[in-house]
Amino acid sequence: MSTTIPPEEKSVSQTALQGIRVLGFESRRCEDMTRMLQRAGAETFVSPSMQEVALDEDQEAVNFAEQVIAGKFDVVVFLTGVGIRHWMQATAETIEQAELLEALQKTTIVARGPKPVSALRELKIRPDYRIPEPNTWREIVDTLSKEIPLANKRVAVQEYGRSNPNLLAGLEALGASVQSFRVYRWELPDDLGPLEANLQRIARQEADVLLFTSSPQVVHFLQVAQRMGIESEVRQGLENAVVLSIGPTTTERLHELKLPMDGEPEHPKMGYLVNLAIEAGPDMVQRKRAGQPTIIAKSSPVEVPSGEPSDALQDSLFMKACRLEPTPRPPIWLMRQAGRYMKEYRAVREGLTFLELCKNPDLCTEVMLTAVDRLGVDAAILFADLLPILEAMGFDLEYVKGDGPVIHNPLRKVEDLSRVQELEDADSQDFVLETVRKTRAGLPSDIPLIGFAGAPFTLASYAIEGGGSRNYLNTKRFMFQNESAWHDLLGRLARSVAIYLNAQIEAGAQAVQLFDSWVGCLNIDDYRRYVLPHTRSVIQAITPGTPVIHFGAGNPTLLPALREAGGDVLGIDWRTRLEEAWKLVGYDRAVQGNLDPLSLLAPMEVILQRTDDLLKQAAGRPGHIFNLGHGIVPQTPVEHVIELVSYIKGISTESS
Ligand code: CP3
Repeated sequence: MSTTIPPEEKSVSQTALQGIRVLGFESRRCEDMTRMLQRAGAETFVSPSMQEVALDEDQEAVNFAEQVIAGKFDVVVFLTGVGIRHWMQATAETIEQAELLEALQKTTIVARGPKPVSALRELKIRPDYRIPEPNTWREIVDTLSKEIPLANKRVAVQEYGRSNPNLLAGLEALGASVQSFRVYRWELPDDLGPLEANLQRIARQEADVLLFTSSPQVVHFLQVAQRMGIESEVRQGLENAVVLSIGPTTTERLHELKLPMDGEPEHPKMGYLVNLAIEAGPDMVQRKRAGQPTIIAKSSPVEVPSGEPSDALQDSLFMKACRLEPTPRPPIWLMRQAGRYMKEYRAVREGLTFLELCKNPDLCTEVMLTAVDRLGVDAAILFADLLPILEAMGFDLEYVKGDGPVIHNPLRKVEDLSRVQELEDADSQDFVLETVRKTRAGLPSDIPLIGFAGAPFTLASYAIEGGGSRNYLNTKRFMFQNESAWHDLLGRLARSVAIYLNAQIEAGAQAVQLFDSWVGCLNIDDYRRYVLPHTRSVIQAITPGTPVIHFGAGNPTLLPALREAGGDVLGIDWRTRLEEAWKLVGYDRAVQGNLDPLSLLAPMEVILQRTDDLLKQAAGRPGHIFNLGHGIVPQTPVEHVIELVSYIKGISTESS
């Protein structure tokens, strides 16, 4: 089995940037950036280039809060999470917080990206609109122009650092009267030493790659170069280096200041930017040195979280594959790896209904830990089910022996929508969160735990059909006849699922999988129209830095649209060759799959032939997570599963 992994790819991540001098200007996450670059072997110089300073003894923050309370605004647009937190702190002493929060509840709230969304969540405020990536002023204006009639509306924009005249003008052009508030602004850091040293390095042509992670950094960078009297040397130095920008806003500032720019990652996040430097940097540096033009590069997805999780988890095969980093072999786990095919599961389940089992965190933990231990897989999935969340939303759920899940009060008419209760928080799912905590505590420290939920369409199909279905007649009828009620329903489901998944992450899950098991009954046009925006809103709301696996089964032609909806990893069902599926998805996303689960019923040698064929199709590319194309069925011999896992694990010893 030594054929699948080209040996030179094995340790790329430790050596990719060896001999390359990378300069960064990040402040808050300076250490994270340094660590990620050093892991790839770079010589690293990260110099903080700004600090946030509260404005005028908080007067502006207080004014803003008073006007919100007085009901002066119809719409408030929040641009940054830090801004929201500063605002709450700055007003804590003078403004009655409960009154402010109540006033905000009554106002239409727009959040520019995931950071303001999570800052608002801390205040238990749910934004009415979230702006899609790449979260610039253009998407804000575009989204609001489609979603809210702004004529004669009073709009407040909470700005950050520097005012954005384009945004204000764009909103005014839609007929709004716009007022902006700036709660803090950017200043130069107290210690300019490291930034000055970096500017000298650039002036001396001793910098290979530069990473800009925000637009104020660019302004400060040039300001300090001017103060030092070395602006033209620095500009010259930049021409000879590879300049990477985190996203469109920063790129726009670089262009404005006539500074060069060679590449931008697909998502405006630091992990993606660093990955771009690792993937494309060495080649671009060569080209610069040879005086050849560089190609404007886009990176593949990766986000290395800044938080606590131990390195053993983050460095595990599974997490690396999610981040598209090379691994000596593909990690393996299997959908429905704990279940009726295992006698240990059947023993635990005896005497309990399935729902009783789901609501017993100790037993759920035991079921999953036993399966992980028995099979030797590289990742664990939370033991729970897709549907109990619907109970908390007002549906009467039962698992009927032989028939699977049944909902006794399905949603069939538009009027039924009024009884669909959106989750405000994840408290009703506490039994699941407790299972996450207990499973995490019981797992080996290098085995990641995957949380999961149903995607909005699949949950809606259960809510409407009242169970499984052959052709989704009721679901499609509702969708085609009542489009706006349909979007209302999927919006409620999407927001509830996002809260639920983020709570799982907070409780200890390292990654999450969104199951759109029945979405394959749709064609791509209907998927785009009726489903994609909702799935995308779930994925965009997921805590940044946590990989999302997006699994949609049944219709491989949907793959490009599933990719558009998002996900760091696309789950591939068994109906398509992995080779073709990955091509459709694009090699800048990881893939998970896709052995036919029923092939596990074949003799072992057939299973292994099919496994070899699958590995050949994956061609040793980074970012393949070995899995089935759907869940294990109860008739599967457990020995086959154990042997499959051990076969995949054997690849590493033979090929290294
Ligand atoms: O993967 C795992 O081992 C973790 C646990 C897990 C279960 N369900 C346990 C379960 C996961 C990830 C799920 C997800 C799930 N649940 C999906 C998406 C995956 C897929 O297959 O597409 C869906 C559609 C459901 C809904 C559901 N739950 C159905 C249709 C059924 C009945 C049919 C069946 O396959 O058993 C269930 C019940 C269920 N969920 C069982 C288990 C172990 C069997 C319950 C029993 O003991 O009778």
